[in-house]
Amino acid sequence: MCGIVGYIGENDTKEILLKGLEKLEYRGYDSAGISVLNHEGSHVFKVKGRIATLRESVDEGVKSTIGIGHTRWATHGAPSKENAHPHVSNSERFSLVHNGVIENYAELRDEYLQGVNLNSDTDTEIVVQLIEKLNNDLNDVDKAFREAIGLLKGSYAIAVLDRENDEAIYVAKNKSPLLVGVGDGFNVISSDSLAMLHVTDRFVELMDQESVIVRRNEIEIRTLDGTRVEREPFVAQLDASDIEKGTYPHFMLKEIDEQPFVIRKIIQEYQDDQDEIKLDSDVRQAMMSSDRVYIIACGTSYHAGLVGKQLIENLAKVPVEVHVASEFSYNMPLLSDNPLFIFISQSGETADSRAVLVKIKELGHRTLTITNVPGSTLSREADYTLHLHAGPEIAVASTKAYTAQMAVLAILAVDTARAKGLELDFNPLQELAIVANTMEALCDQKEAIEGIARDFLQETRNAFFIGRGIDYYVGLEGALKLKEISYIQAEGFAGGELKHGTIALIEDGTPVVALATQESVNYAIRANVQEVVSRGANACIISMKGLDRDNDTFVIPQVHELLTPLVSVIPMQLIAYYAALHRDCDVDKPRNLAKSVTVE
Ligand code: G6P
Repeated sequence: MCGIVGYIGENDTKEILLKGLEKLEYRGYDSAGISVLNHEGSHVFKVKGRIATLRESVDEGVKSTIGIGHTRWATHGAPSKENAHPHVSNSERFSLVHNGVIENYAELRDEYLQGVNLNSDTDTEIVVQLIEKLNNDLNDVDKAFREAIGLLKGSYAIAVLDRENDEAIYVAKNKSPLLVGVGDGFNVISSDSLAMLHVTDRFVELMDQESVIVRRNEIEIRTLDGTRVEREPFVAQLDASDIEKGTYPHFMLKEIDEQPFVIRKIIQEYQDDQDEIKLDSDVRQAMMSSDRVYIIACGTSYHAGLVGKQLIENLAKVPVEVHVASEFSYNMPLLSDNPLFIFISQSGETADSRAVLVKIKELGHRTLTITNVPGSTLSREADYTLHLHAGPEIAVASTKAYTAQMAVLAILAVDTARAKGLELDFNPLQELAIVANTMEALCDQKEAIEGIARDFLQETRNAFFIGRGIDYYVGLEGALKLKEISYIQAEGFAGGELKHGTIALIEDGTPVVALATQESVNYAIRANVQEVVSRGANACIISMKGLDRDNDTFVIPQVHELLTPLVSVIPMQLIAYYAALHRDCDVDKPRNLAKSVTVE
Protein backbone atom coordinates (compact mmCIF):
# COMPACT_ATOMS: atom_id res chain seq x y z
CA MET A 1 0.00 0.00 0.00
CA CYS A 2 0.97 3.64 -0.18
CA GLY A 3 2.27 5.22 -3.35
CA ILE A 4 5.63 6.90 -3.88
CA VAL A 5 6.81 9.31 -6.55
CA GLY A 6 9.94 11.39 -7.01
CA TYR A 7 11.38 13.72 -9.63
CA ILE A 8 14.75 15.28 -10.33
CA GLY A 9 15.21 17.38 -13.46
CA GLU A 10 14.88 20.84 -14.94
CA ASN A 11 11.17 21.59 -14.51
CA ASP A 12 9.16 22.63 -11.50
CA THR A 13 8.57 19.43 -9.60
CA LYS A 14 5.31 20.08 -7.69
CA GLU A 15 2.87 19.48 -10.52
CA ILE A 16 4.73 16.38 -11.72
CA LEU A 17 4.59 14.91 -8.21
CA LEU A 18 0.94 15.80 -7.63
CA LYS A 19 -0.12 14.34 -10.99
CA GLY A 20 1.80 11.16 -10.22
CA LEU A 21 0.25 10.90 -6.77
CA GLU A 22 -3.24 11.30 -8.23
CA LYS A 23 -2.56 8.24 -10.38
CA LEU A 24 -1.27 6.36 -7.33
CA GLU A 25 -4.25 7.10 -5.11
CA TYR A 26 -5.52 3.57 -5.75
CA ARG A 27 -2.71 2.46 -3.42
CA GLY A 28 -4.06 4.44 -0.48
CA TYR A 29 -5.65 7.79 0.07
CA ASP A 30 -5.95 8.65 3.75
CA SER A 31 -3.17 11.25 3.86
CA ALA A 32 -0.54 12.62 1.53
CA GLY A 33 2.48 14.86 1.28
CA ILE A 34 5.41 16.10 -0.77
CA SER A 35 8.85 17.38 0.04
CA VAL A 36 10.80 19.59 -2.36
CA LEU A 37 14.23 21.22 -2.19
CA ASN A 38 15.45 24.57 -3.45
CA HIS A 39 18.12 27.13 -2.54
CA GLU A 40 16.08 28.13 0.54
CA GLY A 41 16.14 24.61 1.90
CA SER A 42 13.52 21.90 2.17
CA HIS A 43 9.74 22.49 1.98
CA VAL A 44 7.33 19.84 3.23
CA PHE A 45 3.57 19.95 2.64
CA LYS A 46 1.38 17.31 4.29
CA VAL A 47 -2.36 16.83 4.81
CA LYS A 48 -4.80 14.31 6.18
CA GLY A 49 -7.00 13.39 3.22
CA ARG A 50 -6.70 13.13 -0.52
CA ILE A 51 -4.33 14.54 -3.12
CA ALA A 52 -6.95 17.19 -3.96
CA THR A 53 -6.56 18.54 -0.42
CA LEU A 54 -2.77 18.34 -0.67
CA ARG A 55 -2.89 20.30 -3.91
CA GLU A 56 -4.72 23.13 -2.11
CA SER A 57 -2.13 23.21 0.66
CA VAL A 58 0.95 23.38 -1.57
CA ASP A 59 2.48 26.85 -1.79
CA GLU A 60 2.51 27.78 -5.48
CA GLY A 61 5.37 30.19 -4.88
CA VAL A 62 7.85 27.46 -3.92
CA LYS A 63 9.81 26.50 -7.04
CA SER A 64 11.96 23.39 -7.12
CA THR A 65 13.46 20.85 -9.50
CA ILE A 66 13.77 17.95 -7.06
CA GLY A 67 11.13 16.36 -4.83
CA ILE A 68 9.45 13.25 -3.45
CA GLY A 69 5.79 12.53 -2.70
CA HIS A 70 3.58 9.99 -0.97
CA THR A 71 -0.04 8.91 -0.69
CA ARG A 72 -0.73 6.79 2.36
CA TRP A 73 -2.76 3.82 3.53
CA ALA A 74 -2.18 3.78 7.27
CA THR A 75 -0.53 0.78 8.92
CA HIS A 76 1.39 2.11 11.96
CA GLY A 77 -0.29 5.24 13.30
CA ALA A 78 -3.73 6.64 12.49
CA PRO A 79 -4.30 8.70 9.35
CA SER A 80 -3.28 12.21 10.43
CA LYS A 81 -1.08 15.08 9.33
CA GLU A 82 1.63 14.06 11.85
CA ASN A 83 1.73 10.49 10.56
CA ALA A 84 1.57 11.50 6.88
CA HIS A 85 4.78 11.23 4.84
CA PRO A 86 7.32 12.67 4.12
CA HIS A 87 8.81 12.25 7.56
CA VAL A 88 11.58 14.62 8.47
CA SER A 89 14.65 14.02 10.64
CA ASN A 90 15.03 16.17 13.75
CA SER A 91 17.60 18.51 12.19
CA GLU A 92 15.22 18.78 9.19
CA ARG A 93 18.09 17.74 6.94
CA PHE A 94 16.53 14.51 5.63
CA SER A 95 12.98 13.86 4.45
CA LEU A 96 11.75 10.41 3.58
CA VAL A 97 8.73 8.60 2.07
CA HIS A 98 8.11 4.91 2.61
CA ASN A 99 5.76 2.19 1.43
CA GLY A 100 5.67 -1.05 3.43
CA VAL A 101 6.19 -2.10 7.03
CA ILE A 102 9.49 -1.95 8.94
CA GLU A 103 9.16 -5.03 11.12
CA ASN A 104 12.08 -4.26 13.43
CA TYR A 105 11.31 -0.57 13.94
CA ALA A 106 10.99 -0.96 17.74
CA GLU A 107 14.38 -2.72 17.99
CA LEU A 108 16.02 -0.05 15.83
CA ARG A 109 14.48 2.70 17.95
CA ASP A 110 15.71 1.11 21.17
CA GLU A 111 19.19 0.35 19.85
CA TYR A 112 20.02 3.47 17.83
CA LEU A 113 17.60 6.24 18.74
CA GLN A 114 17.68 6.48 22.55
CA GLY A 115 17.06 10.12 23.46
CA VAL A 116 15.93 11.05 19.93
CA ASN A 117 12.65 12.93 19.92
CA LEU A 118 10.03 11.18 17.74
CA ASN A 119 7.21 13.19 16.24
CA SER A 120 4.88 10.53 14.88
CA ASP A 121 3.53 7.04 15.63
CA THR A 122 4.97 5.54 12.47
CA ASP A 123 7.58 2.89 11.76
CA THR A 124 8.72 5.14 8.91
CA GLU A 125 9.99 7.97 11.07
CA ILE A 126 12.47 5.57 12.66
CA VAL A 127 14.16 5.16 9.27
CA VAL A 128 14.70 8.86 8.64
CA GLN A 129 15.97 9.43 12.18
CA LEU A 130 18.24 6.40 11.79
CA ILE A 131 19.76 7.80 8.59
CA GLU A 132 20.44 11.09 10.34
CA LYS A 133 21.97 9.31 13.33
CA LEU A 134 24.23 7.16 11.14
CA ASN A 135 25.24 10.17 9.06
CA ASN A 136 26.17 12.09 12.21
CA ASP A 137 28.58 9.26 13.01
CA LEU A 138 29.86 8.56 9.48
CA ASN A 139 29.63 11.99 7.90
CA ASP A 140 28.85 10.29 4.58
CA VAL A 141 25.20 10.25 3.44
CA ASP A 142 25.75 7.56 0.85
CA LYS A 143 27.28 5.21 3.42
CA ALA A 144 24.73 6.14 6.08
CA PHE A 145 21.89 5.37 3.68
CA ARG A 146 23.38 2.01 2.72
CA GLU A 147 24.04 1.10 6.31
CA ALA A 148 20.49 2.05 7.31
CA ILE A 149 19.04 -0.10 4.51
CA GLY A 150 21.14 -3.01 5.68
CA LEU A 151 19.58 -2.70 9.15
CA LEU A 152 15.96 -2.72 8.00
CA LYS A 153 13.80 -5.82 8.23
CA GLY A 154 10.44 -6.00 6.53
CA SER A 155 9.02 -4.53 3.36
CA TYR A 156 9.90 -1.12 2.06
CA ALA A 157 10.17 1.15 -0.89
CA ILE A 158 11.98 4.26 0.29
CA ALA A 159 13.01 7.58 -1.16
CA VAL A 160 15.08 10.16 0.74
CA LEU A 161 16.00 13.78 0.10
CA ASP A 162 19.03 15.43 1.66
CA ARG A 163 18.61 19.21 2.12
CA GLU A 164 22.36 19.66 1.63
CA ASN A 165 22.36 18.02 -1.79
CA ASP A 166 19.80 18.88 -4.45
CA GLU A 167 21.52 16.58 -6.95
CA ALA A 168 20.33 13.21 -5.62
CA ILE A 169 17.35 11.15 -4.48
CA TYR A 170 18.36 8.11 -2.40
CA VAL A 171 16.20 5.09 -3.17
CA ALA A 172 15.88 1.47 -2.05
CA LYS A 173 13.30 -1.27 -1.98
CA ASN A 174 12.64 -4.66 -0.44
CA LYS A 175 9.51 -6.66 -1.31
CA SER A 176 7.56 -3.45 -2.08
CA PRO A 177 7.51 -2.27 -5.70
CA LEU A 178 9.51 0.73 -6.94
CA LEU A 179 10.70 1.73 -10.40
CA VAL A 180 13.02 4.45 -11.68
CA GLY A 181 11.67 6.21 -14.76
CA VAL A 182 14.23 7.45 -17.27
CA GLY A 183 13.88 10.79 -19.03
CA ASP A 184 15.91 13.20 -21.09
CA GLY A 185 17.60 15.49 -18.57
CA PHE A 186 15.45 14.18 -15.75
CA ASN A 187 14.65 10.95 -13.90
CA VAL A 188 11.69 9.94 -11.78
CA ILE A 189 10.78 7.28 -9.28
CA SER A 190 7.38 5.68 -8.92
CA SER A 191 5.58 2.78 -7.26
CA ASP A 192 4.26 1.84 -10.70
CA SER A 193 4.78 2.86 -14.28
CA LEU A 194 1.20 4.12 -14.70
CA ALA A 195 1.76 7.03 -12.37
CA MET A 196 4.62 8.54 -14.36
CA LEU A 197 3.46 7.80 -17.89
CA HIS A 198 2.79 11.53 -18.31
CA VAL A 199 6.55 12.10 -18.27
CA THR A 200 8.19 8.86 -19.48
CA ASP A 201 7.48 5.32 -20.63
CA ARG A 202 11.01 4.00 -19.96
CA PHE A 203 11.65 2.41 -16.59
CA VAL A 204 14.45 0.62 -14.79
CA GLU A 205 13.51 -2.20 -12.46
CA LEU A 206 15.07 -2.22 -9.01
CA MET A 207 15.92 -5.39 -7.13
CA ASP A 208 15.45 -5.97 -3.43
CA GLN A 209 18.07 -4.37 -1.20
CA GLU A 210 19.87 -2.38 -3.82
CA SER A 211 20.95 1.10 -2.86
CA VAL A 212 20.18 3.55 -5.65
CA ILE A 213 21.07 7.20 -6.20
CA VAL A 214 18.89 8.91 -8.78
CA ARG A 215 20.44 12.02 -10.33
CA ARG A 216 19.28 14.23 -13.21
CA ASN A 217 21.30 12.34 -15.81
CA GLU A 218 22.31 9.18 -14.04
CA ILE A 219 20.93 6.24 -12.10
CA GLU A 220 23.56 4.70 -9.86
CA ILE A 221 22.56 1.24 -8.66
CA ARG A 222 24.69 -0.62 -6.13
CA THR A 223 24.31 -3.74 -4.09
CA LEU A 224 24.62 -3.22 -0.34
CA ASP A 225 28.33 -4.14 -0.45
CA GLY A 226 28.85 -1.25 -2.85
CA THR A 227 29.19 -3.21 -6.14
CA ARG A 228 27.93 -1.22 -9.12
CA VAL A 229 25.07 -2.77 -11.15
CA GLU A 230 24.13 -1.78 -14.72
CA ARG A 231 20.56 -2.37 -15.86
CA GLU A 232 18.82 -1.38 -19.10
CA PRO A 233 15.41 0.29 -18.99
CA PHE A 234 12.30 -1.43 -20.36
CA VAL A 235 9.47 0.33 -22.21
CA ALA A 236 6.10 0.19 -20.41
CA GLN A 237 3.51 -1.19 -22.82
CA LEU A 238 0.74 1.08 -21.67
CA ASP A 239 -1.35 3.75 -23.24
CA ALA A 240 -1.85 6.85 -21.08
CA SER A 241 -5.50 7.04 -22.24
CA ASP A 242 -6.16 3.63 -20.60
CA ILE A 243 -5.93 5.29 -17.24
CA GLU A 244 -8.37 8.13 -17.94
CA LYS A 245 -12.09 7.93 -17.13
CA GLY A 246 -13.17 9.57 -20.38
CA THR A 247 -16.87 10.38 -20.25
CA TYR A 248 -17.60 7.89 -17.46
CA PRO A 249 -18.50 9.23 -14.01
CA HIS A 250 -16.44 6.49 -12.35
CA PHE A 251 -13.66 4.09 -13.26
CA MET A 252 -15.72 1.24 -11.86
CA LEU A 253 -18.53 1.79 -14.37
CA LYS A 254 -16.02 2.12 -17.20
CA GLU A 255 -14.31 -1.09 -16.15
CA ILE A 256 -17.61 -2.98 -15.89
CA ASP A 257 -18.40 -1.88 -19.43
CA GLU A 258 -14.96 -2.92 -20.66
CA GLN A 259 -15.53 -6.57 -19.77
CA PRO A 260 -16.80 -7.73 -23.20
CA PHE A 261 -13.71 -6.17 -24.83
CA VAL A 262 -11.42 -7.80 -22.31
CA ILE A 263 -12.91 -11.23 -23.00
CA ARG A 264 -12.47 -10.69 -26.74
CA LYS A 265 -8.90 -9.59 -26.17
CA ILE A 266 -8.24 -12.75 -24.16
CA ILE A 267 -9.69 -14.88 -26.97
CA GLN A 268 -7.39 -13.11 -29.41
CA GLU A 269 -4.31 -13.48 -27.20
CA TYR A 270 -4.88 -17.16 -26.43
CA GLN A 271 -5.84 -18.28 -29.96
CA ASP A 272 -3.47 -19.57 -32.64
CA ASP A 273 -3.83 -19.42 -36.44
CA GLN A 274 -5.94 -22.59 -36.46
CA ASP A 275 -8.34 -21.04 -33.94
CA GLU A 276 -7.03 -23.41 -31.30
CA ILE A 277 -5.81 -22.53 -27.82
CA LYS A 278 -2.31 -21.02 -27.73
CA LEU A 279 -0.63 -21.48 -24.37
CA ASP A 280 2.94 -21.59 -23.07
CA SER A 281 4.00 -25.24 -23.39
CA ASP A 282 5.85 -25.05 -20.05
CA VAL A 283 2.60 -24.12 -18.34
CA ARG A 284 0.87 -27.03 -20.08
CA GLN A 285 3.60 -29.38 -18.95
CA ALA A 286 3.40 -28.11 -15.38
CA MET A 287 -0.37 -28.65 -15.31
CA MET A 288 -0.04 -32.10 -16.91
CA SER A 289 2.51 -33.34 -14.46
CA SER A 290 0.94 -32.05 -11.25
CA ASP A 291 -1.14 -34.31 -9.05
CA ARG A 292 -2.88 -31.38 -7.35
CA VAL A 293 -3.27 -27.68 -8.00
CA TYR A 294 -3.21 -25.19 -5.13
CA ILE A 295 -4.75 -21.85 -5.97
CA ILE A 296 -3.58 -19.02 -3.70
CA ALA A 297 -5.22 -15.60 -3.80
CA CYS A 298 -6.95 -12.82 -1.84
CA GLY A 299 -10.24 -10.93 -2.10
CA THR A 300 -11.87 -10.95 -5.50
CA SER A 301 -9.03 -13.01 -6.98
CA TYR A 302 -9.78 -15.68 -4.37
CA HIS A 303 -13.37 -15.75 -5.58
CA ALA A 304 -12.15 -16.22 -9.14
CA GLY A 305 -9.99 -19.05 -7.81
CA LEU A 306 -13.05 -20.82 -6.43
CA VAL A 307 -14.61 -20.77 -9.88
CA GLY A 308 -11.24 -21.89 -11.27
CA LYS A 309 -11.43 -24.99 -9.08
CA GLN A 310 -14.78 -25.92 -10.63
CA LEU A 311 -13.39 -25.39 -14.11
CA ILE A 312 -10.14 -27.31 -13.62
CA GLU A 313 -11.73 -30.21 -11.74
CA ASN A 314 -14.67 -30.51 -14.14
CA LEU A 315 -12.73 -30.17 -17.36
CA ALA A 316 -9.15 -31.27 -16.66
CA LYS A 317 -9.92 -33.72 -13.84
CA VAL A 318 -7.08 -32.43 -11.68
CA PRO A 319 -7.93 -31.97 -7.98
CA VAL A 320 -7.74 -28.35 -6.84
CA GLU A 321 -7.57 -26.65 -3.47
CA VAL A 322 -8.22 -22.92 -3.15
CA HIS A 323 -6.71 -21.02 -0.26
CA VAL A 324 -6.82 -17.49 1.08
CA ALA A 325 -3.16 -16.44 0.96
CA SER A 326 -3.00 -14.86 4.41
CA GLU A 327 -4.22 -18.11 5.99
CA PHE A 328 -2.11 -20.45 3.90
CA SER A 329 1.07 -18.71 4.99
CA TYR A 330 0.56 -19.60 8.62
CA ASN A 331 -1.60 -22.71 8.36
CA MET A 332 -0.25 -24.75 5.51
CA PRO A 333 -2.15 -27.96 4.72
CA LEU A 334 -0.42 -31.23 3.95
CA LEU A 335 0.77 -30.92 0.38
CA SER A 336 0.54 -33.56 -2.32
CA ASP A 337 3.70 -35.10 -3.81
CA ASN A 338 3.75 -33.07 -6.97
CA PRO A 339 1.81 -29.86 -6.54
CA LEU A 340 1.52 -26.87 -8.85
CA PHE A 341 0.80 -23.54 -7.18
CA ILE A 342 -1.27 -20.99 -9.07
CA PHE A 343 -1.18 -17.43 -7.72
CA ILE A 344 -4.07 -15.32 -8.93
CA SER A 345 -3.53 -11.61 -8.47
CA GLN A 346 -4.76 -8.65 -10.48
CA SER A 347 -1.91 -6.43 -9.31
CA GLY A 348 0.73 -9.11 -8.91
CA GLU A 349 1.91 -7.22 -5.82
CA THR A 350 -0.30 -8.51 -3.00
CA ALA A 351 1.99 -9.13 -0.03
CA ASP A 352 -0.08 -11.99 1.42
CA SER A 353 0.20 -13.92 -1.84
CA ARG A 354 3.87 -13.10 -2.19
CA ALA A 355 4.59 -14.42 1.29
CA VAL A 356 3.20 -17.79 0.17
CA LEU A 357 5.13 -17.67 -3.09
CA VAL A 358 8.40 -17.15 -1.21
CA LYS A 359 7.69 -20.16 1.05
CA ILE A 360 6.63 -22.36 -1.84
CA LYS A 361 9.76 -21.52 -3.80
CA GLU A 362 11.84 -22.47 -0.78
CA LEU A 363 10.08 -25.83 -0.81
CA GLY A 364 11.03 -26.19 -4.47
CA HIS A 365 7.51 -26.48 -5.92
CA ARG A 366 6.48 -25.08 -9.29
CA THR A 367 4.59 -21.81 -9.43
CA LEU A 368 2.39 -20.04 -11.96
CA THR A 369 1.08 -16.48 -11.60
CA ILE A 370 -2.09 -15.34 -13.35
CA THR A 371 -1.95 -11.56 -13.30
CA ASN A 372 -2.90 -8.36 -15.03
CA VAL A 373 0.61 -6.93 -14.58
CA PRO A 374 3.24 -9.16 -16.23
CA GLY A 375 6.26 -7.28 -14.81
CA SER A 376 4.89 -7.41 -11.27
CA THR A 377 6.62 -9.06 -8.33
CA LEU A 378 4.49 -12.21 -8.37
CA SER A 379 4.98 -12.53 -12.10
CA ARG A 380 8.74 -12.07 -11.94
CA GLU A 381 9.19 -14.46 -9.08
CA ALA A 382 6.97 -17.33 -10.24
CA ASP A 383 8.20 -19.92 -12.75
CA TYR A 384 5.49 -19.05 -15.28
CA THR A 385 2.99 -16.26 -15.93
CA LEU A 386 -0.34 -16.07 -17.72
CA HIS A 387 -1.40 -12.53 -18.56
CA LEU A 388 -4.98 -11.32 -18.11
CA HIS A 389 -4.86 -8.60 -20.79
CA ALA A 390 -7.56 -6.67 -18.92
CA GLY A 391 -5.83 -3.27 -19.17
CA PRO A 392 -5.23 -1.11 -16.10
CA GLU A 393 -7.90 -1.55 -13.45
CA ILE A 394 -8.11 1.66 -11.44
CA ALA A 395 -11.29 1.39 -9.32
CA VAL A 396 -10.51 -0.22 -5.99
CA ALA A 397 -13.37 -2.70 -6.43
CA SER A 398 -12.15 -5.26 -8.94
CA THR A 399 -14.48 -6.07 -11.85
CA LYS A 400 -12.87 -6.72 -15.22
CA ALA A 401 -9.86 -8.46 -13.67
CA TYR A 402 -12.22 -10.96 -11.99
CA THR A 403 -13.95 -11.96 -15.21
CA ALA A 404 -10.61 -12.03 -17.03
CA GLN A 405 -9.18 -14.35 -14.37
CA MET A 406 -12.04 -16.80 -14.82
CA ALA A 407 -11.73 -16.67 -18.62
CA VAL A 408 -8.00 -17.47 -18.46
CA LEU A 409 -8.64 -20.26 -15.95
CA ALA A 410 -11.24 -21.75 -18.33
CA ILE A 411 -8.70 -21.71 -21.17
CA LEU A 412 -6.06 -23.26 -18.91
CA ALA A 413 -8.49 -25.99 -17.80
CA VAL A 414 -9.45 -26.93 -21.36
CA ASP A 415 -5.86 -26.84 -22.55
CA THR A 416 -4.89 -29.28 -19.80
CA ALA A 417 -7.85 -31.52 -20.54
CA ARG A 418 -6.90 -31.68 -24.23
CA ALA A 419 -3.25 -32.30 -23.44
CA LYS A 420 -4.36 -35.20 -21.26
CA GLY A 421 -6.39 -36.56 -24.15
CA LEU A 422 -9.74 -36.06 -22.43
CA GLU A 423 -12.80 -35.84 -24.68
CA LEU A 424 -14.52 -32.49 -24.24
CA ASP A 425 -17.71 -31.13 -25.63
CA PHE A 426 -16.61 -27.59 -24.86
CA ASN A 427 -14.78 -25.08 -27.02
CA PRO A 428 -13.77 -22.35 -24.59
CA LEU A 429 -12.89 -19.76 -27.21
CA GLN A 430 -16.28 -20.10 -28.90
CA GLU A 431 -18.10 -20.16 -25.59
CA LEU A 432 -16.17 -17.09 -24.40
CA ALA A 433 -17.22 -15.25 -27.56
CA ILE A 434 -20.85 -15.92 -26.59
CA VAL A 435 -20.03 -14.73 -23.06
CA ALA A 436 -18.63 -11.45 -24.45
CA ASN A 437 -21.84 -10.78 -26.42
CA THR A 438 -23.96 -11.62 -23.39
CA MET A 439 -21.90 -9.30 -21.19
CA GLU A 440 -22.56 -6.53 -23.67
CA ALA A 441 -26.31 -7.20 -23.53
CA LEU A 442 -26.19 -7.06 -19.73
CA CYS A 443 -24.18 -3.84 -19.68
CA ASP A 444 -26.95 -2.33 -21.81
CA GLN A 445 -29.50 -3.05 -19.09
CA LYS A 446 -28.14 -0.64 -16.52
CA GLU A 447 -31.49 1.04 -15.95
CA ALA A 448 -33.19 -2.21 -14.98
CA ILE A 449 -30.31 -3.13 -12.66
CA GLU A 450 -30.29 0.31 -11.09
CA GLY A 451 -34.00 -0.32 -10.38
CA ILE A 452 -33.08 -3.53 -8.55
CA ALA A 453 -30.56 -1.65 -6.40
CA ARG A 454 -33.25 0.89 -5.58
CA ASP A 455 -36.00 -1.67 -4.88
CA PHE A 456 -33.94 -4.01 -2.75
CA LEU A 457 -31.11 -2.03 -1.18
CA GLN A 458 -32.27 1.56 -0.78
CA GLU A 459 -32.92 1.53 2.96
CA THR A 460 -31.34 -1.68 4.15
CA ARG A 461 -28.41 -2.06 6.52
CA ASN A 462 -27.67 -5.66 5.48
CA ALA A 463 -28.15 -8.09 2.60
CA PHE A 464 -27.55 -11.75 1.75
CA PHE A 465 -26.38 -13.35 -1.47
CA ILE A 466 -27.17 -17.02 -1.83
CA GLY A 467 -26.44 -19.66 -4.43
CA ARG A 468 -25.38 -23.27 -4.77
CA GLY A 469 -22.22 -24.60 -6.37
CA ILE A 470 -20.69 -22.12 -8.74
CA ASP A 471 -23.49 -19.62 -7.98
CA TYR A 472 -22.43 -19.63 -4.34
CA TYR A 473 -18.98 -18.43 -5.38
CA VAL A 474 -20.51 -15.62 -7.42
CA GLY A 475 -22.67 -14.76 -4.41
CA LEU A 476 -19.50 -14.34 -2.34
CA GLU A 477 -18.21 -11.89 -4.93
CA GLY A 478 -21.57 -10.08 -5.12
CA ALA A 479 -21.53 -9.62 -1.34
CA LEU A 480 -17.91 -8.44 -1.36
CA LYS A 481 -18.63 -5.86 -4.06
CA LEU A 482 -21.59 -4.50 -2.11
CA LYS A 483 -19.65 -4.32 1.18
CA GLU A 484 -16.60 -2.73 -0.39
CA ILE A 485 -18.29 0.22 -2.01
CA SER A 486 -21.72 0.78 -0.38
CA TYR A 487 -20.80 -0.26 3.22
CA ILE A 488 -24.00 -2.32 3.43
CA GLN A 489 -23.21 -5.35 5.56
CA ALA A 490 -23.49 -8.22 3.11
CA GLU A 491 -22.82 -11.91 3.30
CA GLY A 492 -22.50 -14.53 0.58
CA PHE A 493 -23.87 -17.88 1.66
CA ALA A 494 -24.31 -21.40 0.37
CA GLY A 495 -28.10 -21.64 -0.17
CA GLY A 496 -28.47 -24.85 1.80
CA GLU A 497 -26.34 -23.70 4.73
CA LEU A 498 -28.41 -20.65 5.59
CA LYS A 499 -30.90 -22.65 7.62
CA HIS A 500 -28.15 -23.90 9.94
CA GLY A 501 -28.01 -20.70 11.95
CA THR A 502 -27.74 -17.65 9.75
CA ILE A 503 -31.42 -17.69 8.80
CA ALA A 504 -32.00 -16.26 12.30
CA LEU A 505 -30.91 -12.91 10.81
CA ILE A 506 -33.71 -12.84 8.25
CA GLU A 507 -36.48 -10.45 9.20
CA ASP A 508 -39.18 -8.47 7.43
CA GLY A 509 -37.69 -6.86 4.36
CA THR A 510 -34.15 -8.36 4.58
CA PRO A 511 -32.85 -8.38 1.01
CA VAL A 512 -31.75 -11.81 -0.23
CA VAL A 513 -30.25 -11.95 -3.71
CA ALA A 514 -30.45 -15.52 -5.03
CA LEU A 515 -28.62 -16.79 -8.09
CA ALA A 516 -30.17 -19.59 -10.14
CA THR A 517 -28.02 -20.37 -13.17
CA GLN A 518 -27.35 -24.09 -12.61
CA GLU A 519 -29.84 -26.71 -13.73
CA SER A 520 -28.77 -29.33 -11.19
CA VAL A 521 -29.58 -27.06 -8.25
CA ASN A 522 -32.39 -24.97 -9.68
CA TYR A 523 -35.01 -26.74 -7.62
CA ALA A 524 -32.90 -26.69 -4.44
CA ILE A 525 -31.99 -22.99 -4.56
CA ARG A 526 -35.60 -22.05 -5.15
CA ALA A 527 -36.57 -24.06 -2.07
CA ASN A 528 -33.98 -22.03 -0.11
CA VAL A 529 -35.52 -18.85 -1.43
CA GLN A 530 -38.93 -20.02 -0.15
CA GLU A 531 -37.42 -20.59 3.28
CA VAL A 532 -36.29 -17.00 3.55
CA VAL A 533 -39.38 -15.51 1.91
CA SER A 534 -41.60 -17.23 4.45
CA ARG A 535 -39.56 -15.46 7.13
CA GLY A 536 -40.13 -12.06 5.59
CA ALA A 537 -37.14 -11.72 3.22
CA ASN A 538 -37.33 -9.52 0.16
CA ALA A 539 -36.01 -11.99 -2.43
CA CYS A 540 -34.35 -10.88 -5.65
CA ILE A 541 -33.93 -13.87 -7.96
CA ILE A 542 -31.43 -13.64 -10.77
CA SER A 543 -31.78 -16.65 -13.01
CA MET A 544 -30.52 -17.84 -16.36
CA LYS A 545 -32.73 -18.12 -19.43
CA GLY A 546 -34.11 -21.64 -19.65
CA LEU A 547 -34.13 -22.05 -15.87
CA ASP A 548 -36.20 -18.94 -15.19
CA ARG A 549 -39.62 -18.93 -13.60
CA ASP A 550 -42.45 -16.42 -13.47
CA ASN A 551 -41.66 -13.43 -11.25
CA ASP A 552 -37.89 -13.89 -11.29
CA THR A 553 -36.44 -10.42 -10.81
CA PHE A 554 -33.87 -10.53 -13.60
CA VAL A 555 -33.09 -13.12 -16.25
CA ILE A 556 -29.67 -13.33 -17.87
CA PRO A 557 -29.26 -14.78 -21.36
CA GLN A 558 -28.01 -18.34 -21.57
CA VAL A 559 -24.30 -19.12 -21.70
CA HIS A 560 -22.41 -22.39 -21.08
CA GLU A 561 -23.17 -23.61 -17.57
CA LEU A 562 -19.50 -23.53 -16.50
CA LEU A 563 -19.09 -19.92 -17.63
CA THR A 564 -22.18 -18.43 -15.97
CA PRO A 565 -20.07 -16.60 -13.32
CA LEU A 566 -18.63 -14.38 -16.04
CA VAL A 567 -22.07 -13.04 -16.83
CA SER A 568 -24.04 -13.46 -13.61
CA VAL A 569 -21.49 -11.30 -11.81
CA ILE A 570 -22.34 -8.30 -14.00
CA PRO A 571 -25.71 -7.64 -12.34
CA MET A 572 -23.91 -8.10 -8.99
CA GLN A 573 -21.29 -5.51 -9.93
CA LEU A 574 -23.90 -3.06 -11.18
CA ILE A 575 -26.19 -3.58 -8.18
CA ALA A 576 -23.25 -2.74 -5.90
CA TYR A 577 -22.32 0.25 -8.05
CA TYR A 578 -25.80 1.76 -7.98
CA ALA A 579 -26.35 0.96 -4.30
CA ALA A 580 -23.14 2.87 -3.54
CA LEU A 581 -24.14 5.71 -5.82
CA HIS A 582 -27.58 6.01 -4.18
CA ARG A 583 -25.82 6.33 -0.82
CA ASP A 584 -23.44 8.98 -2.08
CA CYS A 585 -20.44 6.76 -1.44
CA ASP A 586 -17.12 7.33 -3.12
CA VAL A 587 -17.41 4.46 -5.60
CA ASP A 588 -13.84 4.38 -6.89
CA LYS A 589 -12.12 5.04 -3.57
CA PRO A 590 -14.09 3.39 -0.77
CA ARG A 591 -13.16 4.14 2.80
CA ASN A 592 -10.37 2.18 4.53
CA LEU A 593 -9.39 0.29 1.38
CA ALA A 594 -6.59 0.31 -1.15
CA LYS A 595 -6.32 -1.47 -4.43
CA SER A 596 -2.91 -2.95 -4.09
CA VAL A 597 -2.32 -4.35 -0.62
CA THR A 598 1.43 -4.61 -0.26
CA VAL A 599 1.49 -5.27 3.48
CA GLU A 600 0.75 -8.62 5.13
C1 G6P B 1 -7.35 -5.73 -2.24
C2 G6P B 1 -8.35 -5.12 -3.20
C3 G6P B 1 -9.27 -6.20 -3.75
C4 G6P B 1 -8.44 -7.32 -4.37
C5 G6P B 1 -7.42 -7.89 -3.38
C6 G6P B 1 -6.46 -8.85 -4.05
O1 G6P B 1 -7.98 -6.15 -1.09
O2 G6P B 1 -9.10 -4.12 -2.54
O3 G6P B 1 -10.10 -5.63 -4.74
O4 G6P B 1 -9.30 -8.34 -4.80
O5 G6P B 1 -6.65 -6.83 -2.84
O6 G6P B 1 -5.68 -8.13 -4.97
P1 G6P B 1 -4.88 -8.78 -6.15
O7 G6P B 1 -4.20 -7.63 -6.83
O8 G6P B 1 -3.91 -9.74 -5.54
O9 G6P B 1 -5.86 -9.47 -7.04
